Amino acid sequence: MTPLVGAKITALGTYVPPRLLTNDDLEKMVDTTNDWILERTGIRERHIVDKGVASSDLAFEAANAILKQRGIAPTEIETILVATVTPDMLFPSTACLVQEKLGAKGAWGFDVSAACSGFLFTLQTAVQFVQTGAHKKVLAIGADVMSSIINYEDRATCVIFGDGAGAVLVEPAEDGDPNVFIDYIHEIDGSGGCSLYMPAGGSKHPSSHETVDKKMHYVHQDGQAVFKYAVRKMAEVSEKLLQRNGLTGHDLDLFIPHQANRRIIMSAAERLGMPEDKVVINIGEYGNTTAGTIPLAMGTAREQGKLKKGSLVLLASVGAGFTVGATLLRWGAED
Ligand code: COA
Repeated sequence: MTPLVGAKITALGTYVPPRLLTNDDLEKMVDTTNDWILERTGIRERHIVDKGVASSDLAFEAANAILKQRGIAPTEIETILVATVTPDMLFPSTACLVQEKLGAKGAWGFDVSAACSGFLFTLQTAVQFVQTGAHKKVLAIGADVMSSIINYEDRATCVIFGDGAGAVLVEPAEDGDPNVFIDYIHEIDGSGGCSLYMPAGGSKHPSSHETVDKKMHYVHQDGQAVFKYAVRKMAEVSEKLLQRNGLTGHDLDLFIPHQANRRIIMSAAERLGMPEDKVVINIGEYGNTTAGTIPLAMGTAREQGKLKKGSLVLLASVGAGFTVGATLLRWGAED
């Protein structure tokens, strides 16, 4: 479908809590080593919230940075979309909490649950609202406090995840502006539900002494099953998106993938024929922040001077569900 209006990213905001949890710290908590974590995942450290800090707090910081950058009042925001698997609570939505914290009076919005693909699914939802002409200023936010659902006695999961948030503002482009969203392919595949999930706290297993005793309120993961699926699907969906737009990896300025594991990223990048200097990897500093990884990686690319107005960028993700996403765009924000 040809959009009525081009949609573009006009601003980016990111936030991570200041406290660090390093591999050295984890060596003292579980039976692991810095070498194992670095070699198997590429992670050196991650940022972790202090007690009482929730996803809406991180989301607010990222969104507020955007308002300052664009010099716009909170009341100009029409829609707030928040991707998260760690909402402050089951309801109200984190979007409502962010709306209140920002003072975005008159906005509407909601949460999107798609785990590590949450940011891309949220971004596409924002793009649709702009492309149809329904809204002119939409915030797409990815925010997760993964430390709130991690078992820090389980070495297989606690080394991977961190806390963080990022947001972009999506606005209409002027006629003829090439720096817009180009195309996307997103998929869900529920057959992977049992490979990565949090069993308790929902309607199937409401929280109880039993669910807590059985540690069902934490992330449960079959790491190898997720790894194999992610390696296959991230490359597959990315290649499909490039092909149908008559492009190859060589045409791209940047590949900004979800940061789950350095080996997953490099395997997808190799399949796409992307040289390492065009692949954004910041998992070493942040770990896997779930819905936060892609905007945080955009922030890293911008700091490194690699993400510029007009850059042709491929975003890609695989997450729990399974959820899969690939988005092709030209970066629209001023440098
Ligand atoms: N430190 C040291 N050893 C560890 C460890 C840790 N933190 N975690 C697991 N191990 C051990 C395992 O117990 C196993 O030991 P064994 O051979 O004696 O049984 C060994 O390391 C290999 O485990 P395995 O699970 O095969 O390792 P792996 O190479 O697959 O790496 C993951 C594990 C989790 C890093 C990897 O599977 C992965 O990244 N999966 C995808 C996870 C992901 O991206 N999740 C988010 C979805 S977006």
